Amino acid sequence: MIDLHCHVLAGIDDGPQTIEDSLALARAAAAAGTRTIVATPHVSWEYRNRAQAIAGLVEALNRRLRGDGVALEIRPGAEIAMTRVGDIEPDELARLTLGGGGWLLIEPPFTLVASGLDLLIADLQQRGHRVVLAHPERCPAFHADRSMLERLVGSGVLGSLTAGSLDGKFGAPVRRFALELVSDGLVHNVASDAHDESRRPPTIAAELKRAGLAPLAQWLTELVPAAILDGGEIPPRPEVQSSGRRRPRWLGGRG
Ligand SMILES: [Fe+2]
Repeated sequence: MIDLHCHVLAGIDDGPQTIEDSLALARAAAAAGTRTIVATPHVSWEYRNRAQAIAGLVEALNRRLRGDGVALEIRPGAEIAMTRVGDIEPDELARLTLGGGGWLLIEPPFTLVASGLDLLIADLQQRGHRVVLAHPERCPAFHADRSMLERLVGSGVLGSLTAGSLDGKFGAPVRRFALELVSDGLVHNVASDAHDESRRPPTIAAELKRAGLAPLAQWLTELVPAAILDGGEIPPRPEVQSSGRRRPRWLGGRG
């Protein structure tokens, strides 16, 4: 698996604070079946991280992982707050893409109104960027106005769900909305958005399985993120038939 959204770097945001905490998170990810983590520290008004510092921490963590024999590769990336992106100079923005593949991970605000989000994303697209939206299921503005998310996906934006949302970690309405978005084809990736080893852990496969999404797991956690990192074509979602007696909720059943 490729974990496209993970706060694995130490002392740079609200993720792990020490290299030992980073290593614990990384080991837990490897044990859960992840082979590549894209390090996506916050780039926001609170955490004014720069690509150069991110690259240095990625290199140091990879060195430690290799030394410790952990079969896991860290790639550089960032989770850029919508409210900050307009302030970042073009060269720096180009260096903050996911694994250097040309896609930016943009975090929508946790507010009921996200005015300007569509214009901002259209502007990024016009400047040649491609956009992955972080946890759209947790954005109140999309709960209130789903059509905005539909338009964004229609324009080429990809939706990256947080695995914990499928388990109800952020409440029942977020869980319901997450399953609805999968059902309606508005989700292209599921990532951990892990911040530590246990409270917000780096697990994905277990959550997908519990939600009945195992048939889509390879597409969501390997094929799509690999294309994002390589800058290649996003493969179409596979046709999946429910094999169980009850249709899972994401296929339009009652779950
Ligand atoms: Fe995050």
